[in-house]
Amino acid sequence: MLSNRATRDVETLIHPFTHLARFRETGPLILERGEGVWVYDGDGKPYIEGMAGLWCTALGYSNAELVEAAREQMARLPFTHLFSGRSHDPAIELAERLKEIAPVPVSKIFFCCSGSEANDTQVKLVWYMNNALGRPQKKKIIAQLRGYHGVTIASASLTGLPANHADFDLPIPNILHAPCPHHYRFAEIGESEEDFSARLAAELENLILREGPDTVAAFIAEPIMGAGGAIVPPAGYFPAVQAVLDKYDVLFIADEIICGFGRLGTWFGSEQLAMRPDTISFAKAVTSGYLPLGGVMIPEPMYQVMLDQSRKIGTFGHGFTYSGHPVSCAVGLKALEIYRRDRIFVGVQAKAPHFQERLSALAEHPLVGEARGVGLIGGLEIVADKTTKRSFDPKAGVAPACVGFAQEEGLIVRALGGDRIAVCPPLVIAPHEIDELFDRLGRALDHTQDWVRREGLWR
Ligand SMILES: Cc1ncc(COP(=O)(O)O)c(C=O)c1O
Repeated sequence: MLSNRATRDVETLIHPFTHLARFRETGPLILERGEGVWVYDGDGKPYIEGMAGLWCTALGYSNAELVEAAREQMARLPFTHLFSGRSHDPAIELAERLKEIAPVPVSKIFFCCSGSEANDTQVKLVWYMNNALGRPQKKKIIAQLRGYHGVTIASASLTGLPANHADFDLPIPNILHAPCPHHYRFAEIGESEEDFSARLAAELENLILREGPDTVAAFIAEPIMGAGGAIVPPAGYFPAVQAVLDKYDVLFIADEIICGFGRLGTWFGSEQLAMRPDTISFAKAVTSGYLPLGGVMIPEPMYQVMLDQSRKIGTFGHGFTYSGHPVSCAVGLKALEIYRRDRIFVGVQAKAPHFQERLSALAEHPLVGEARGVGLIGGLEIVADKTTKRSFDPKAGVAPACVGFAQEEGLIVRALGGDRIAVCPPLVIAPHEIDELFDRLGRALDHTQDWVRREGLWR
């Protein structure tokens, strides 16, 4: 029986990424407030936010400085835009800071409001640039199976997950998908991580050659795949891929929307994964998720092409009303200041070994096939048979059931396709809270094991 408030929700909202039919029975989890890594529901029950919201609230909840930065900017100038050469200090200063911390040379920052908009912008910039360079056939963009890049038409096309394509008439033309770099699932028996990386790079090269290198414009990848399953690529993957991209003049777009701003212990995930991208998409933790903000880091050669094109055809015809919203930028500036001043990423580096140890230990659980991560992100895969890696029938919903048991234990984690569960807490999590998180997740796995037995799923 749903509460009155839950019924009002069910009758009024479409929830993103929700099983609409099942939701009518389960109803929503309504949260009312947060403090540090904790969030509280309407009954005052505390939960560890083990997903930092949606991989975004890096500085935790109720950060008074972020709130004050927003309030001050709201009071001074709540809105102005960047169209037609208008500007404001928060956008200028934030762009300057972002250029300073970028892991590769960056010429300009284009602001938008979300990760999807950032990746849509990447697609448009690649097409625009190649038209301007007089090579209109060089338009194809290669993404990865199980990569996640958003849900707008172009970014959903880049996304390599069936649920984001089926019945939406996606992907659009000119988007291709390379194999998923998940060693546990897709390596051949006895294949080392390095050999698997070399094979994937060779497959990427074959794909480019089959399509014609003069038609392939760009490759996009996340350092660690997030929504595709919190998947760590095999050793040597990005250097092997990079060599192929360099050989065929294929631009490398890093989707740093989850890994940017400290998740792996450095400003960007590219630094940890030996990636050398030409351009970077960012969002989420740039404001610690407190306000919507995303963007694209544009390299000098691309900017020069855009400049020349503008001399020829006039206005650069792209941008959003809320590109560089002053309040979002003010909060972004404050978040960056706190990351640096409070040495938040040094803290991540210090806490990561313990976090990863507790995560890896879950691989001992009878239901867990793989448990792996980097920094303060990790994924585990639930399997029916650890020896053969056989999965449960996806319809049984074993990972979602585990997430339900975790919720009962006062822990928020997320079920992803392939019976994977992601863990991605705020970066400010304390060591004892890491223990509390994994204790609760361990108990949730035990409850799942009992449930699997009761339901007769374990045969
Ligand atoms: C790696 C990655 N790229 C893009 C996006 C899309 O961002 P948004 O939901 O802000 O559009 C996400 C969202 O989770 C993401 O994780």
